Amino acid sequence: MKRSRITGLGFYVPDNVVTNDDLSKIMDTTNEWIIERTGIKERRFFVEGVDTVSSMGAAAAKIALDRAGKKPEDVDMLVMATLSPDYFFPGSGVLVQRELGLRKIPCFDVREQCSGFIYALSLADQYIKTGSVKTVLVIGSEVQSNVFELSDRGRNMSVIFGDGAGAAVLEAQEGGDSYILSTHLHADGGHAEELMLEHPGSKLKERISPDMFEKGMFLPHMNGKLVFVNALKYFPEVIREALAYNHLKVSDIDLFVPHQANVRITHAVQKEFGFPDEKVVSNIHKYGNTTAASIPIALTEAWEEGRVKEGDLVCLASFGSGFTWASALIRW
Ligand code: UT7
Repeated sequence: MKRSRITGLGFYVPDNVVTNDDLSKIMDTTNEWIIERTGIKERRFFVEGVDTVSSMGAAAAKIALDRAGKKPEDVDMLVMATLSPDYFFPGSGVLVQRELGLRKIPCFDVREQCSGFIYALSLADQYIKTGSVKTVLVIGSEVQSNVFELSDRGRNMSVIFGDGAGAAVLEAQEGGDSYILSTHLHADGGHAEELMLEHPGSKLKERISPDMFEKGMFLPHMNGKLVFVNALKYFPEVIREALAYNHLKVSDIDLFVPHQANVRITHAVQKEFGFPDEKVVSNIHKYGNTTAASIPIALTEAWEEGRVKEGDLVCLASFGSGFTWASALIRW
């Protein structure tokens, strides 16, 4: 039976480091508030004239391909997770394809926000298992800071989210013990408007007009408390689902790589499962919440630090806008 193995990882973050103190000079916030509520010390914002979702995704992908010993012509499929594509259409997948010089392969854009990377990973895994493709590039990339209002009105979003990209190369293999054991995807559109960017969209059944900018309809909106409460419910649920599906125990997990939503969410899940610190990857203090990019960035950093070893059981999990939530168990 064919299975998918992750053979290369890479990430890219913009050079523009924005500290909490930088933000406190332009809006009513403080370093203390941001650290206490989120664990974030600094984040990266795109460099104007340099970084886009596709350029950052391609940069991360080049590193991942190189580490996998693969060339652009080896890639059979690309799955790109982003909520902030370069254009409203077409998707950013084809732009990465063009930038990397990939063949005329299928290129998907996957939304699913904070769960985007696991959704993309799952899609790639299914295609590999059916034998239709052998090598897939999976990318999570976001430029979110270009729509934030860097003012008091936008502070509840702009202090949390950041920009960056991460990528993984998946390869088909027969036999062997290192592969993606399973992925588990969920959604509940009942809370779609609790974390969203309303425009440009068709839901209001109105033509776009200049006053919509003034009303903030082009700004992201988040009901932070509701998102928080649901994250605490669904993170554990989807991790338990993955463990039960594979007849594994909590203690079998060697490394937990959660979506970097908020350090308080990570700590709550860590406490619930009794994970020691060395089993949990947390880098939100450096990059903030990079949505679809957060898991591949965190996984790549952990791998670079030697925290992911052959035979380890790695658990990925996410929760975010949609609501969507997901998990993946990987035997490294
Ligand atoms: O990736 C998945 C998507 N997002 C998440 O996972 C985020 C989940 N939610 C959260 O992380 C938290 O709800 C937040 C960090 C967003 C907010 O923390 P909170 O403890 O829920 O704060 P709050 O929204 O209830 O606001 C508390 C106070 C309010 O002031 P009052 O009404 O108590 O006077 C806010 O106006 O903090 C104020 N506030 C701020 N103060 C300083 C809100 N944003 C800021 C800010 N700086 N940036």
